[in-house]
Amino acid sequence: MNQELKKYIENNIFPMYDRYYSHGMLHINNVINNCLMLAKYYNLDENKAYTIAAYHDAGLSISRDNHEKESGKIFAQDIEMKKYFSNIEIEEMKEAIEDHRGSRKEPPRNMYGKILSDSDRDFNIEILAKRQLSTSIKNYSDINTFDEHFERCYSYMMKRIEGFGHFNLWTNNPILLEQRDKFEKDYINKEYTKKIYKAEWKRISENGTIDKIKNYYLDY
Ligand SMILES: [Fe+2]
Ligand SMILES: [Fe+2]
Repeated sequence: MNQELKKYIENNIFPMYDRYYSHGMLHINNVINNCLMLAKYYNLDENKAYTIAAYHDAGLSISRDNHEKESGKIFAQDIEMKKYFSNIEIEEMKEAIEDHRGSRKEPPRNMYGKILSDSDRDFNIEILAKRQLSTSIKNYSDINTFDEHFERCYSYMMKRIEGFGHFNLWTNNPILLEQRDKFEKDYINKEYTKKIYKAEWKRISENGTIDKIKNYYLDY
């Protein structure tokens, strides 16, 4: 991994996620780790994998609905990237960032888009609990109790698991498939899942994060 590139991203791109919780560094670091794992598996370039993961949600500050395109623009217009990547590589990476949305129907245009999209999943109940609860707190300000938030989050996710079959993966990577199947199997055990959400709720109630989600963070 190019250390100069890494430093540049840490100092200039990561701060763009400061005002985000569900889409903040917790999420970005998780996507980076997944992306690096997949890059290694498929013999892809780790500098490219790290960079697309780091930029992939940076466009949220500009547009909520179209953040993939905006993130692609932020990346491709960053002249610093020319130090590390050729114009052809920058175009390929821009396409990958633009194609990362999970609900997309057609496959991403290139392999980097496929590994990024698959890395963007939360096949981890602890991480999902953080992200889903914060989104629910932000969007449903009329709900105040844990039980109500949990029921909302749980039925939303169960509809996805039961209604659409498995979460789609473009790479069908065996490591991710295993994570996905374990995640789905664990998640449908409601008591087990509720315990994890409850622990997270307790943590964010006690350390002031709930107030920060309502008043400071810009996620939706
Ligand atoms: Fe995204
Ligand atoms: Fe993301």
